[in-house]
Amino acid sequence: MILEAGDEAAQVAIGRRLAEALEYRGIVYLNGDLGTGKTTLARGVLRSLGHDGAVKSPTYTLVEPYDLAAGRVYHFDLYRLGDPEELEFLGGRDMFADEALTLVEWPVRGEGWLPAADVVITLSLIDQGRRLVFEAGSDHGVQALQQMADTAWTFHDV
Ligand SMILES: Nc1ncnc2c1ncn2[C@@H]1O[C@H](COP(=O)(O)OP(=O)(O)OP(=O)(O)O)[C@@H](O)[C@H]1O
Ligand SMILES: [Mg+2]
Repeated sequence: MILEAGDEAAQVAIGRRLAEALEYRGIVYLNGDLGTGKTTLARGVLRSLGHDGAVKSPTYTLVEPYDLAAGRVYHFDLYRLGDPEELEFLGGRDMFADEALTLVEWPVRGEGWLPAADVVITLSLIDQGRRLVFEAGSDHGVQALQQMADTAWTFHDV
């Protein structure tokens, strides 16, 4: 599935729909260069679970946990990860085993250690907006993308 988000609001709206379609659990990889809207998409996900505050890329802390009414979210940004094994020391194993919705920016940095994703999203720049290419990595991911595709038309309205 491919979606195009013409502006930041559309990017946030897609993040919201993704969270709902995944029923607030699963692992999502966010691939794409600097500035392609990974954190903005994560903000939409977090809004969907009821987080109203700021969302920053946890570039230095590598992970930001959120304990929200609708569930737990782990937001990873592995841009500055030196070695995938560092994820072990961060307590990554417990986080990934948790019943949570886990978002991972720069998953390539954790290759070899990270568990497989339910959904892989590859973001890129187009004109003023962003293109988001979605791929499923599990049955749970297939179901979520199917549900998003069924309602994708709503994104044209945001
Ligand atoms: N669909 C969109 N259309 C236009 N601008 C967007 C869109 N999505 C995000 N942006 C803008 O792009 C900029 C970068 O977004 P963001 O911080 O989410 O990128 P990122 O992929 O997380 O970058 P990094 O790799 O540095 O963490 C922000 O100013 C944001 O408002
Ligand atoms: Mg970011």
